[in-house]
Amino acid sequence: MILLDGKKTAAEIKEEVALEVRDLKNNGYNAPHLAAIIVGNSGASITYVNAKVKACERVGFESTLIRLPEETTEDELLNEIAVLNVDNDIDGFIVQLPLPKHINEQKVIMAVDPDKDVDGFHPTNVGKMALNLPTFISATPYGILELLERYTIETSGKHVVIIGRSHIVGSPMSILLSQKRKVGNATVTMCHSRTKNLKEITLQADIIVAAIGIPEFLKADMVKDHVTIIDVGITRLADSSKKNGFRLVGDVAFDEVSKKADFITPVPGGVGPMTIAMLLKNTLLACKRKNINENHKS
Ligand code: GUN
Repeated sequence: MILLDGKKTAAEIKEEVALEVRDLKNNGYNAPHLAAIIVGNSGASITYVNAKVKACERVGFESTLIRLPEETTEDELLNEIAVLNVDNDIDGFIVQLPLPKHINEQKVIMAVDPDKDVDGFHPTNVGKMALNLPTFISATPYGILELLERYTIETSGKHVVIIGRSHIVGSPMSILLSQKRKVGNATVTMCHSRTKNLKEITLQADIIVAAIGIPEFLKADMVKDHVTIIDVGITRLADSSKKNGFRLVGDVAFDEVSKKADFITPVPGGVGPMTIAMLLKNTLLACKRKNINENHKS
């Protein structure tokens, strides 16, 4: 069994990004600048956004963190987005999800300028992704593609079973892996809460992407030998033996499933760190595109 080490792979990608930032600066360009908006006080969201900002600093990006109170209205948030959309110093920005219940998430996603949508959530970018056109691929699916590529895991002709149909992971993953692309050409089965005989399907999988948010859902008796497992789940379970009071658990019963798997992502340290690295890659891309556009104008 080989661990798909997201921490190590993400560090390599960040090093590559840092080198490109150095080149940009040496050629007289500004460093890429990522902004992140966070609304409210969710502990997990704050941790994630802080990690994103810290990662920016490490690779030489500029970063701006905009913290808004829980009571922020939808209009106020939309105004902040409108400001970032026209701020030429900002190459890309994200609005951390989930948002408080009184704010319409879809409306917020649609308000972001697609050229600055480094999360790849805007319908324009989702549409381009679905058509296999160049665009920002969302960080989690992009990170999974990158992990599979860097560990040279064959996907062509393989049966990939995806558990979970979220807009952020399951749905784009199913599209990307079935496309004609380097990491793609797979036969994809998308499973969700209404799927019947799930175990019969997962037992046929060469690669399983578990993205349902149910801790340790995928058990050893649901997978065949030599399977590749991508565990996207990351649930905080109370654990008084831990200093911070919780432990992180994936969607896969790691101890038992890893005994049958050829490749498996750990939680934490698998898909999670990759998402931040891919957000940085998308921001670098946004910055380079802006530079090209501005050069064309002058
Ligand atoms: N919440 C969980 N994952 C993500 C992500 O990739 N981007 C944003 N903006 N919010 C998230």
